[in-house]
Amino acid sequence: MFDPQAAAPAMTLAEKAAFLTGATAWTTPGLPRLGVPPLTLTDGPHGVRKQLPGARLMDLDQSEPATAFPAASATGCSWDPALLAEIGAALAAESRALGTDVLLGPGVNIKRSPLCGRNFEYFSEDPVLSGELAAAWVRGLQDGGAGACVKHFAANNQETDRMRVSAEVDERTLREIYLPAFERVVTRAQPATVMCSYNRLNGIPASEHRWLLTEVLRAEWGFGGFTVSDWGAVTDRVAALAAGLDLQMPADGGPAAAALVAAVSAGTLPEAVLDRAVERILRVTARLTGPRGDSRPAVDHERHHALARRAAAGSAVLLTNEDEFLPLDPAAGGTLAVIGEFARTPRYQGGGSSQVVPTRLDSALAEITAAVAGRRDVVFAPGFTLDGAPSPELLAGAVAAARSAADVVMFLGLPEAAESEGFDRTAIGLPATQLDVLRAVAAVSQRVAVVLSNGGVVATRPVTEQARAVLEMWLPGQAGGGAAADLLFGAAEPGGRLAETIPLALSDNPSYVNFPGAAGRVRYGERIYVGYRWYDKVARDVAHPFGHGLSYTTFAYSGLQVEVPDPARPAAVVRFTLANTGRRAGSEVAQVYVSDPEASADRPERELKAFRKVRLAPGESCLVELALTERDFAFWDEQRRGWTAEPGTFRIAVGASSRDLRLTAEIELTPPLPPTPLTLDSTIGEWLAAPSGRDALMAALAAAPGGTGEIVIDDSMLAMAAPVPFRQALALGFAAIPSGGEAAFLARANAGLGG
Ligand code: GLC
Repeated sequence: MFDPQAAAPAMTLAEKAAFLTGATAWTTPGLPRLGVPPLTLTDGPHGVRKQLPGARLMDLDQSEPATAFPAASATGCSWDPALLAEIGAALAAESRALGTDVLLGPGVNIKRSPLCGRNFEYFSEDPVLSGELAAAWVRGLQDGGAGACVKHFAANNQETDRMRVSAEVDERTLREIYLPAFERVVTRAQPATVMCSYNRLNGIPASEHRWLLTEVLRAEWGFGGFTVSDWGAVTDRVAALAAGLDLQMPADGGPAAAALVAAVSAGTLPEAVLDRAVERILRVTARLTGPRGDSRPAVDHERHHALARRAAAGSAVLLTNEDEFLPLDPAAGGTLAVIGEFARTPRYQGGGSSQVVPTRLDSALAEITAAVAGRRDVVFAPGFTLDGAPSPELLAGAVAAARSAADVVMFLGLPEAAESEGFDRTAIGLPATQLDVLRAVAAVSQRVAVVLSNGGVVATRPVTEQARAVLEMWLPGQAGGGAAADLLFGAAEPGGRLAETIPLALSDNPSYVNFPGAAGRVRYGERIYVGYRWYDKVARDVAHPFGHGLSYTTFAYSGLQVEVPDPARPAAVVRFTLANTGRRAGSEVAQVYVSDPEASADRPERELKAFRKVRLAPGESCLVELALTERDFAFWDEQRRGWTAEPGTFRIAVGASSRDLRLTAEIELTPPLPPTPLTLDSTIGEWLAAPSGRDALMAALAAAPGGTGEIVIDDSMLAMAAPVPFRQALALGFAAIPSGGEAAFLARANAGLGG
């Protein structure tokens, strides 16, 4: 065990420079001379992808077997932080068993467009849901002795041109949409590391973005770990280190270290900047390798498989269920037709760095057959091939199977080739051949249920129009087949609620005209109106709203009370009763949305600010209590350059989805409103309205060239002058900065603001 305090001062410049670059694809160099072991960093968020010896960087399937848990787009629909923490703990055990110190996840980028090829690896379109689930996953992982690496920081919301594109995002949109999930993870779970993204942000590479990596991440949020580049993201090592990018991955054979030594030797980079990064990595290395020693705990893979199965069921979203068609009776008479190649060949994980070699892989067909063995006959028809090629024979086989069956379950979805890390989709429809088979089957059977396997959102209307029930299972992991059988026959309940809106058409999505950008730039023109924030703002119909999901039972909400201890301090406690009014046990996700209808700035109709997943027995009820803090009422105030909760009326809505609001209440908050600082770009009206602004303005008007010293502003003049920025009044000669200079003048103008 080494002493991180003593190691840094004992290192030479060359050793420090080398220490800040990978030694291999997956390890840091450490420093044997001082007893500092290397750190091993390994993908990914859904399972440990520990590459086999000799595997090349791109040999994605050359890795040790590990549990493939449901992808984030599935677990994001669980709305269950406790479940994410359990998965994190299991991943910690598997990481440590495979000698991994840092697991490269979770991915918390916001789902800006349904087309993003990597949406399967992210939780939600909403930052509160993303942040809460990711923070729980990080706590579970790190309590289990592994380090997390929250990624990709920041505004990495597409795969198209991801290594060069500049995401053009205004600060309020960053603060309210694209940064909060990272902020919640950093401030509530203290991840060991943060990974910068490949893309640029407003023209600056994320790997060299000082505002992101130092001012926001460290100075504002208090991040205490080290930052690491995405693999190959660094283009200027000296600029990156100076901006706050501590570790460059992977190994580069020497140029990065040489550049650092040269910059220090030339006096263009203080050696203290290297010391700072070295110390950060030493501290994390000591924390992660000290207790571990050489112990490699045994892993109970069967228990992890069972957890993956439970997680898949708890993340599955029952989109429709006409006349309670599901769950099916496993002992009912009549044949059960299972149709669709995905029942035999599961689509269970996403492509790219997150993929895992599973310890085992359930097929829904085998699990369904086992579940009804001895009670129902099962007939299988593939119906289609995964390459999407039309096959009249397979279609006819599916129709024949359906015609003879009492019930039909179809397994549809996106083939691997349709979505992945590295590229985006261009449409959200299911493959045409699958829809052809669905329509042909529905023409001969009125008892069809569909199970979907897809990473990103697909257009569901063509499916729900044909089927009695539709179960969205996303990419459910290696135990997804077993979970599907559990759900279809009621051994488990669909615990998921949508973490992303499913639109009726891609063109309804707010990013549609600005995705994926062109000529190296992508403009986030929809600003804060992402996902439901947009669809609600423009009152657009959707296929299924954010937060939607059916259960096998029903729930009632009652008795909403919103307690505001002190209206001058924006905080509240929301209380209500939730009751299971059905015949089966089940879980409900109660969601709390806040609206600010009197805001001085434009704001979404409502925003998710709290939620709770509650499991209740039939007839059972419970009191749910959720706290709202000042930040839950605030927006990022571009004039005050900070979070502002304004005085006025706020609406609190509680419901089962963003469009199924069962209870509402209004509260009045009266927080003092910090003044907006006067600048030369403030208008004459704003100057006149500020306590000490009027005097300063009069002095400036009196100082105008040829000014008489006597200024009278009558109402008609005020109406014309009020919207004029002070800077223009100076340019037009109506005013002048009095002697003493601009800084003193503005200080005098703002003196009365207490700013
Ligand atoms: C990839 C991914 C990142 C991953 C890393 C290592 O390009 O963007 O998520 O952790 O490189 O494989």
